[in-house]
Amino acid sequence: MESKFYQAGKHRAEKVQELFAAIARRYDLLNDIMSAGLHRRWKRRLVELALGEGEAGSRKRVLDLCCGTGDIALAFARAGADVTGADFTEEMLRVAEARCGAGGTTAEGTKDLNSQAGRPRNVSWVRADALRLPFPDNSFDVVSVGYGLRNLADIERGLREILRVLKPGERFLSLDFGKPESTAFRAPYFGYLRVVLPILGRVFCGDPDTHGYILASLRDYPAQKGIEELMISCGYRDCGFEEFCLGSMAINYGVKPK
Ligand SMILES: C[S@@+](CC[C@H](N)C(=O)[O-])C[C@H]1O[C@@H](n2cnc3c(N)ncnc32)[C@H](O)[C@@H]1O
Repeated sequence: MESKFYQAGKHRAEKVQELFAAIARRYDLLNDIMSAGLHRRWKRRLVELALGEGEAGSRKRVLDLCCGTGDIALAFARAGADVTGADFTEEMLRVAEARCGAGGTTAEGTKDLNSQAGRPRNVSWVRADALRLPFPDNSFDVVSVGYGLRNLADIERGLREILRVLKPGERFLSLDFGKPESTAFRAPYFGYLRVVLPILGRVFCGDPDTHGYILASLRDYPAQKGIEELMISCGYRDCGFEEFCLGSMAINYGVKPK
């Protein structure tokens, strides 16, 4: 599956930015449709794993990288953490800003089920490239990425940059598409990505390539197992992953050594 938004090599980041600038206003709606709302549950689970079940996030300093329209950053903020949402696509950050500022509406003007009324004071948005973060070493208690690692032009460099800004002993988590082990499940899963997503892209964004991109970007993405190995080779410890829907989604996690 090809997509004009997926280009290996030096134009990779530029094309990713073009893609998310084009779909920013429809991004949240499409996520709900594509996952039948399940992405909200997986994102909540990431926050739980990051902060500890039942543990308040107050005083934790969280960086949500590739924050997009802000789902995960806002969930951390609601749990009481001090959150910085960082992304390199201005249009996505504008939607994130609007979700806070408008007190609970989406870019479409409908009620935002993820948002609380009123502007949360403990979240800020920064335009930044994940491969060159504008933060000092050892700045954050948690770094999270939702559906972002797969989009980086250089995943290993991104993982090393995350390790740099994490405080020693603290945790990184990444939620993204996975590659299921079960051969019986792989066919319908990849069939869904190949056939249904470009249709949704055409209907809602006017271009099949916007959502054909997901399968194209998965091709070179090492998924849960490969990311675990890469994290270990970058120097993370206690690495592992939790899978959902037979491995079609996964949260990878690991800790910066003390
Ligand atoms: C699929 S969206 C994920 C949004 C959000 N985290 C979520 O889970 O819904 C991926 C985001 O990663 C951002 N992104 C991709 N590469 C990036 C990079 N090198 N630096 C910063 N942001 C990047 C894109 O702009 C986009 O907003």
